[in-house]
Amino acid sequence: MFNFKKNRFVLLASLIIQFGFAQEKIPHLHKKGNKTQLIVNGKPFIIRGGELGNSSATSIESMEPIWSKLTEMNLNTVLTPVYWELIEPHEGKFDFSLVDDLVLKARKENLKLVFLWFGSWKNSMSSHAPDWVKLNQKKYPRVKDDKNKSHEILTPFSENNLEADLKAFQKLMGHIKDFDQKEQTVIMVQVENEIGMLPTARDYSLTANEAFNKQVPDELLRYLQANKEKLVPEFFEVWKKNGFKTSGNWEQIFGKGLQTDEIFMAWFFAKFTNRIAKAGKDTYEIPLFVNAALNAPEKKPGEYPSAGPLPHLMDVWKAAGTSIDLLSPDFYNPLFKHWNDLFTRQGDPLFIPEHKFDATAPFKGLYAIGHYEAIGFSPFSIESVADAKKEPLGKIYDLIRQLTPTIEANKGSGKIEGVLLDKENKSQIIQLGNYEFTFKHDYTLNWSDGAKDEIWPMTSAIIIEIGADEFYIAGSGIVVTFKPLKNKSLNAGILKTDQGRFENDVWKTVRHFNGDQTHQGRHVRIAVGDYEIQKLKLYTYE
Ligand code: DGJ
Repeated sequence: MFNFKKNRFVLLASLIIQFGFAQEKIPHLHKKGNKTQLIVNGKPFIIRGGELGNSSATSIESMEPIWSKLTEMNLNTVLTPVYWELIEPHEGKFDFSLVDDLVLKARKENLKLVFLWFGSWKNSMSSHAPDWVKLNQKKYPRVKDDKNKSHEILTPFSENNLEADLKAFQKLMGHIKDFDQKEQTVIMVQVENEIGMLPTARDYSLTANEAFNKQVPDELLRYLQANKEKLVPEFFEVWKKNGFKTSGNWEQIFGKGLQTDEIFMAWFFAKFTNRIAKAGKDTYEIPLFVNAALNAPEKKPGEYPSAGPLPHLMDVWKAAGTSIDLLSPDFYNPLFKHWNDLFTRQGDPLFIPEHKFDATAPFKGLYAIGHYEAIGFSPFSIESVADAKKEPLGKIYDLIRQLTPTIEANKGSGKIEGVLLDKENKSQIIQLGNYEFTFKHDYTLNWSDGAKDEIWPMTSAIIIEIGADEFYIAGSGIVVTFKPLKNKSLNAGILKTDQGRFENDVWKTVRHFNGDQTHQGRHVRIAVGDYEIQKLKLYTYE
């Protein structure tokens, strides 16, 4: 006989399990200690990524020669555009054949995908808007510069523009959910690409000008007051200079000048993008992020893409909504530590969706995962690789692949560090566990092959404390010496150092290092050109 009470309980329990299970399985961010993990298929995941060039994923055929290069470089994730003009060629009529093919091919190659929504904006411009948007300027208005000249940039001050993009994005997210929720091939989505206003710091269209003369929205002012102590110093200074006013129009609160034009524009870009992101998340709640074109310090807003999700504007972007999970830097300039420090200074997780695919990229990627405990890294134009099997990125990614469970087990607990070295920054000191480690560039050894070279390659390493006096050190081009941290009268020595690899997540020693390999016990070394993991046990003696 049907036992209603009992069956009601079973039904409820199964719903909880199913719901909980489904929740757990959707890619999401998870705070662990003072850092953040990306969870995919229920497990922590580090993105060993590569971003495709802008037009490489425009057809099934153009992708064909690319897939094998990606796996040969030990990538686990491809960042690929999804083009508004291609998925909605006619208003309201969607074609996801290219998207589906990308998902199916990625699954076959055991790769995950991060989709880049090339919607209203791609590097400031609106080049990926469908023709029915481009050809109907009356309905889908553009920005104007200070000379009243229109540009091929959709204005964020138009509800029609917002609605058209939002509907398409929501449809895309719905499609990903239906097509991929079970497998979770698509793990994050970038909303728009390098948003920013060019060639003037703000939009001068009629509606923009009206908004500029209106009161600054309460929502922003409330955020500033509630977070006054936490605001980034550059932004705090602008507000302070004008007397921390809490009512008035944009110029009354932030003063006259380009900085106010930029703040104003950032608010409206961020609002627009957050509304799109929210619509996407209401449909399928996976992590969403935006990326920033970094500004050269000598350039003014409008000479660089003004108002993007840049460090000096991060409070404005955060005040505008919570549907965007990450603000991310794109690196085409060398100041890697500087910018990453700025992006992470409020405790936000770091994800680097683009880095110029140059010789420094692999080493910076390893450093980002060691020092910032980043959730991922991805050089741009990844398919341009000359010889994928020989590419250093692949060798560094292989180390990260092997170490991912160890990194994730120790994440957020002060047990992981990274070093980044070159000729100008020859050494770096790190304190971890009971020891002080001095990491030096391999070429500081006067007997190393390249010591006399004029140019030294960039090198890097990650170190993870796994137990009392025990560490993994992995990377390339480093020499490490040690001192006890507390009792300075003691010496530190190598008890054991083994070079090896993880097979099915289990450590396997390949060579026990000693003699010349450790300079008779004086140091740990991984030469330039070698890519290794060493398991190190230290001890102290009088
Ligand atoms: C940054 C953009 O986000 C990419 O799509 C690409 O245009 C690169 N710049 C450089 O070509």
